Amino acid sequence: MNDPLVNQTLVRPGARIGHTVIVKQETGSTNDDARELAESGADHGVVVIAERQKRGRGRKGRTWHSPPGRNLAFSVVLRLGLPAGDTGLVTIGAGVAVASALAELCNIPARIKWPNDVRVKGKKLAGILAEADGQNTIDYVVLGVGVNVNIEADEMPDDIREIATSLLIETKNQWPRVLVFKRIMEGLESIFGELESGNYKKVLEGWQGLAEAMGRRVRVETPGPVVTGTVMGIRDDGALRIKNDGGDEEIILAGDVIII
Ligand code: BTN
Repeated sequence: MNDPLVNQTLVRPGARIGHTVIVKQETGSTNDDARELAESGADHGVVVIAERQKRGRGRKGRTWHSPPGRNLAFSVVLRLGLPAGDTGLVTIGAGVAVASALAELCNIPARIKWPNDVRVKGKKLAGILAEADGQNTIDYVVLGVGVNVNIEADEMPDDIREIATSLLIETKNQWPRVLVFKRIMEGLESIFGELESGNYKKVLEGWQGLAEAMGRRVRVETPGPVVTGTVMGIRDDGALRIKNDGGDEEIILAGDVIII
């Protein structure tokens, strides 16, 4: 499917998210572009989307691979006015919005791996990188989203081919990227609306319903020791709750979860 983003209507006039969409043929990273815009005062809901990123990045400094013309790579400036401690919840909310948008639109069993990897049957479909700024309240959050839409397995780098998937691979159909993009925008607008009105419970319950590791035994590789135990859920701030093998609860703020 030849659907260049530059020729299409991506904006959502009057919406809170996506009212302004800056389309780039090539950039370093849309997260850097959105951060620059936020630093110069861009409003809540401004989006930067790129056909190609030269330095697309994922969590923990990993590279994010996305060939032009196939996928979605965009970043949203968020000004939610939440306390700094709630950045984790923005991340969680984004995972819920992206996973449910893709599950509903494409009729696939998309699930979330904590904190917010979107996966189908254990393979990664979309990644989210939230970068916050601000001291006591969050001044802004840059929310970067990468979705594998029409990429074939043989276009993926060797090291991710076995662990990644796309909407095309899962459904055997090509998906118009604009349709997927707009559906995600709607989802983000709705979930962040809930956060803005203090309805954190809705976000936490949404995550719980989509979490692939709920109640499962996992190994969590944290910046500190490895924690092994059973996933109990998430705390109100988005931190992961694990019952460790000694029966105690451990709270994980950052790490990689592996179902064992
Ligand atoms: C991850 O799963 O590690 C997060 C991947 C996030 C990728 C997106 S693509 C758009 C935005 N720009 C970036 O450089 N990264 C995010």
